[in-house]
This record gives sequence, structure tokens and C-alpha cells, in this order.
Amino acid sequence: MEHQILVLLHLIGAILFVGAIALEVIVLEPIKKHISIETFQMVEFYLFRRIKRTYWPAVMMIYMSGFYMYGTYVEAYGGMGALLESRFGQLLTLKMLFAIALLGIFATAPFAFMTKQPSPLKHFFIITGSYQEFRIDRFEIIHYAALSFGLLIVILAKVMWMV
Ligand code: HEM
Repeated sequence: MEHQILVLLHLIGAILFVGAIALEVIVLEPIKKHISIETFQMVEFYLFRRIKRTYWPAVMMIYMSGFYMYGTYVEAYGGMGALLESRFGQLLTLKMLFAIALLGIFATAPFAFMTKQPSPLKHFFIITGSYQEFRIDRFEIIHYAALSFGLLIVILAKVMWMV
């Protein structure tokens, strides 16, 4: 029961997180050709800022529940070594590594997308600066990488049960 609640919280967080990235890539990016580059830069900046300001609870919910559940599997298998000997454990660990890479993209995005800001800590939490400073030329590479990691994580989450 407790485990199923954790899976549910994990899943809600995953839908919100990967859903936001999918919205940016599948919905926002294609409308770029219908609006001016400045409008696209402005929309993307405010969307990015909104996501960065509001998504930490969802992100923490995914990662805290995920690491906790990983710990329960390590325990259930009788140690890390035994878990890694199983195909399930290998795929789960690969999923965890991809998830850490995605968290890395999320955490470093304020600095990858924006030119140097006077207060890096404040910028990390609330995104300072104006939309003109947003590096729109990096939109595609960063978002495509993030969506690829997100999809691979979700696919692995299901495939690990099938092998
Ligand atoms: C953005 C990051 C993540 C996403 C999108 C994600 C997504 C998912 C999804 C969709 C499931 C399947 C849930 C179901 O069967 O209904 C799942 C399961 C699972 N995830 Fe994640 N996950 C993420 C991060 C993590 C992390 C960092 C860990 C830590 C190792 C982790 C550990 C697990 C575990 C152990 C399960 C199996 C739960 C069970 O017992 O059914 N996840 N994940």
C-alpha cells in the first residue's frame, strides 16, 4: 500500500515533469515559424521562468520517491551487488543514471540559457534577468536532449519489468 502511494506520487511527478518538456518541444517549438523570433524568445523565457520557479516540488517528489524505492529494491535483493546482477536491477540503475542526467540539465538550465547574472544563487532559484538575455539559440539542443532522456526513462521504467 505504502509502496503503491510512492509509485503514484512518482508517476504524477513524472507526468508533470516530462509533460512540461514535451509541451515545449512538441507544441511551442513548431509555432516558432508563425511568430517573430523575439516573440518566441519572450514566450519561451517566461515559460522557462515559470517552470523553474514552480517545478521544484514536483521534481523533488520524483527524485525522493525514486531514490527511496531504489533503496527498497537494494534491500529486497540483499545488497547492491545482487541487484546489479539481475537484469531488472541493471535497467533500473540505467534509468536512475538517465534521471540524474536529466536532473543535471534541469539544475544547470538557468546558466545554460541565460548570460551571466549578478546573483547566481538568486538566479538559480527564481531566474533573474530579462527575456532579451535568454539564449534562444540553445533551445533545441537542450530541449531535445531533455525530452530524449525523459522518454528513455519512462520506457525503461516499463521495460525493466518485462525482461
Ligand atoms: C524524471 C525522472 C523520472 C521519471 C520520468 C520516472 C518515471 C517513472 C515511471 C513512469 C515509472 C513507472 C511507474 C509505474 O509502473 O506505474 C517509474 C518507476 C520507478 N522509478 Fe522512476 N522516474 C524518474 C526518476 C527516478 C529516479 C531518480 C529513481 C531512483 C532510482 C527512480 C526509481 C524508480 C523505481 C524504483 C520505479 C519502480 C516502482 C515500482 O516498484 O513499481 N525513478 N519511474
